[in-house]
Amino acid sequence: MGFTRVYEAWKNDPETFWMQAAEGIDWVKKPSKALFDDNAPLYEWFKDGQVNACYNAVDRHVENGRADQTAIIYDSPITHTKREITFLELRDRVASLAGALRAKGVEKGDRVLIYMPMVPEALEAMLACARLGAIHSVVFGGFAANELAVRIDDAKPKAIIAASCGVEPGRVVHYKPLLDGAIDLATHKPDFCVVLQREQEVAKLIEGRDFNWHGFQHGIAPAECVPVSGDHPAYILYTSGTTGAPKGVVRSTGGHLVALNWTMKNVYNVDPGEVFWAASDVGWVVGHSYICYGPLVHGNTTIVFEGKPIGTPDAGTFWRVISEHKVASFFTAPTAFRAVKREDPTGEFIKKYDLSCLKTVYLAGERADPDTITWAQEKLNVPVIDHWWQTETGWAIAANPMGIEKLPVKLGSPSVAMPGYDVQILDEGGHPMPTGGFGAIAIKLPLPPGTLPTLWNAEKRFMSSYLEHFPGYYETGDAGYIDDDGYLYIMARTDDVINVAGHRLSTGAMEEVLASHQDVAECAVIGVADALKGQMPLGLLCLNSGVTRPNSEITAEIVKLVREKIGPVAAFKTAIVVERLPKTRSGKILRATMVKIADSEDFKMPATIDDPVVLDEIRVALQTVGLAQ
Ligand code: COA
Ligand code: AMP
Repeated sequence: MGFTRVYEAWKNDPETFWMQAAEGIDWVKKPSKALFDDNAPLYEWFKDGQVNACYNAVDRHVENGRADQTAIIYDSPITHTKREITFLELRDRVASLAGALRAKGVEKGDRVLIYMPMVPEALEAMLACARLGAIHSVVFGGFAANELAVRIDDAKPKAIIAASCGVEPGRVVHYKPLLDGAIDLATHKPDFCVVLQREQEVAKLIEGRDFNWHGFQHGIAPAECVPVSGDHPAYILYTSGTTGAPKGVVRSTGGHLVALNWTMKNVYNVDPGEVFWAASDVGWVVGHSYICYGPLVHGNTTIVFEGKPIGTPDAGTFWRVISEHKVASFFTAPTAFRAVKREDPTGEFIKKYDLSCLKTVYLAGERADPDTITWAQEKLNVPVIDHWWQTETGWAIAANPMGIEKLPVKLGSPSVAMPGYDVQILDEGGHPMPTGGFGAIAIKLPLPPGTLPTLWNAEKRFMSSYLEHFPGYYETGDAGYIDDDGYLYIMARTDDVINVAGHRLSTGAMEEVLASHQDVAECAVIGVADALKGQMPLGLLCLNSGVTRPNSEITAEIVKLVREKIGPVAAFKTAIVVERLPKTRSGKILRATMVKIADSEDFKMPATIDDPVVLDEIRVALQTVGLAQ
């Protein structure tokens, strides 16, 4: 069946479409129906079913002839380690860890925070929680103690599972002091912590609170899978919003399993048994959906890669991993390819490896620029598919459904809306725009299975952030247009979220840090174009009157402060001091205009600007850091 017919089948009868997709999941009790809309505009899927995510990701494969198939390949060029774990081994390891967590009091519905680098134990920790019906919340290792503390206070975890350290090029990331610092900062205290001691650094444990990963499992009975209802939260994943407080995106178990399982064949075109590799991190949604749950639920082998596209040891790492482990589908962020292309523009490393196993490459996380796609297509000689989604949706809103039908690729477009998503472009008043019109991208409610039902403990914020602006729709926060063939073009954000190396960051959160500095009177953070990372944050500061210290001293402190408060992932390296910030007459800072000036783009003088001369001052200041040329 061609894609149009599949999409139409969904549109004409979503209930039947999703109940059929639900057949791919092993239910303890089958749901009586797919959509539960009694609480609209809040929706739930498969609510009256009973299911366990870990059973579907692990145990069922052991029972169905895949016991000896490799479930996880751990490939860590940064620590020179490789390891393979079969589904049988994974089942035993996860059941043992879950048993030990249960023995310490973790039960269905309890939250468990996970702060780990890219090691297989990170997936095991997630799956052990899922086995018990506990709700995990993974925090990316590049966040600082303060960000970790904010998440601890919001999720109120009973336990925290961490590793002693992470390893970044040229430095060991000391997780344990960050963890201890976060617990000190947080108001909520976990009952206990579990620490995976890595060879690269053995952390000091706090007697009575911290337990050794291996030691605390000793002599404990393994845990069986605990059935949960379809709407039971599988996890909470925090993501950046407009303000400093991150949003706790909730993922319900039933829809999560059904949707991810559906995408593995239909979007990513892999069959059970094949190797699927998403080169991301468990701290991001890509890691949740396509390093952990998606491939495992579908019976694919997944790769846990601890390294970088370049420098570990070279720009050939991706190709070495693909050829060595026979990767069929490969998923990464455009920024990673830009990094490889910069070091190896002619693809010399690619020529060294047999990549005949590779069928398709998928890109997401940020806009895929046509140059990068063309380069990858030419050098790898396979389709390179851009697809668009967000933490909130958990799977692709728009993609090229390779397992159904390969649609023509249009450079600059992540192709078409997937079944489940009725995507529309709206004007400010919430009216659908004519084809080709540029506007806010919204999705007609209900969102499909696997997408967020709400925000953790913040239903009002969920409504105000996503549902209220355009009644009847989910507001994506992205803007763009749809062409005559129904292809989407994602062009910009409508909020203060920026995208740095495929990481979503909040300029509002950075501004809060800048504003907390004693010498700063006023500030703005904008995302300026960067050839490698897509965007980079830049801070503009107005100092309090009477400050006499050199500007360079203050900007250096600001850079350090953002790293301390938010973390290295913010990639905040540049701040400049200016006399004034451009504003509207009502006092709104003209951030978008400053972005245009920094990126040397044409812009329309805002009609409401208070004093246009300020823009010239900003241009001169930006030129001192190589922008606005
Ligand atoms: N733990 C601790 N620190 C981390 C970290 C982690 N898990 N991940 C990144 N960081 C640090 C980096 O070491 C870097 O620190 P530095 O300022 O001391 O150099 C900083 O955070 C910024 O990281 P990032 O923006 O990711 O840049 P990078 O230098 O690590 O790598 C590229 C950048 C160019 C290699 C980039 O192309 C890349 O691959 N990024 C990851 C893309 C990705 O997986 N996106 C996920 C969505 S699919
Ligand atoms: P995250 O929630 O971190 O996955 O970030 C989601 C945001 O990243 C989206 O709302 C977009 O702004 C951007 N994004 C992700 N994928 C794409 C893509 N393929 N093209 C353009 N922007 C993308």
